Amino acid sequence: MKNIAFIGMMGSGKSVTARVVAEKLGMNLLDIDDTLVARMGMPISVAFITLGEEIFRSYEHDVLCEVVWQENFVVSCGGGIPLNKSNMDLLQNFIKVRLTASAEEIYRRTKDDFSRPLLKDNSPKKIAEIIAEREEVYSRYADITVSTDNRSVEDVADEIVEKLKSFN
Ligand code: S3P
Repeated sequence: MKNIAFIGMMGSGKSVTARVVAEKLGMNLLDIDDTLVARMGMPISVAFITLGEEIFRSYEHDVLCEVVWQENFVVSCGGGIPLNKSNMDLLQNFIKVRLTASAEEIYRRTKDDFSRPLLKDNSPKKIAEIIAEREEVYSRYADITVSTDNRSVEDVADEIVEKLKSFN
C-alpha cells in the first residue's frame, strides 16, 4: 500500500480517522499537528502568536519533508497543508483522502476547542467562508473524498479502507 495522507478542513475528523485507518491497515501514524506541538514545545495557538503563521507553515513543510522518504505511513495533515503547492508536490505519490463535514457540524465539533488560531472568531459563517475559499484546492488533490457528517469514526474508516482497495 502506498502512503496515505488525510487532507481537509479543520474539524473534519482527520486526526481521529487517520488513527483508526492506520490501525486497521497495520500502518504507522504521523499526525503533523501533534508532531509540531511536541517539537515547538507550545500549542499551535501560541506558535501563531509568538512565531507567526509563516514560520509555522515552514515547520509544517519540514515535517512533511521528513515523512515522504518513509514507508507504510498514514499522515494526518493540518488543514492548511494543501494551500502550499510545495507541500502537495511532496505528497505526490501519497493517496490523498479528503474528509468533509458541513460548516454547522464543524462548528459543533470545534466551538469549545481553542487550539485552532484560525477559528478564534469561530462561527458557522466563518467556517463556511474558509470551506468556500479552500474547496477548489482540497478537491483538486483528493483521490478519495468521504463525508463525516453524522457518522461514526468506525463507519468512515471502514468506507475509506474499502475505497483504498482499488488503489492497490
Ligand atoms: C490549520 C489547521 C490546523 C492547524 C492550524 C492551521 C489550517 O490543523 O494546523 O491551526 O490552516 O487549516 P487541523 O486541520 O488538524 O485542525
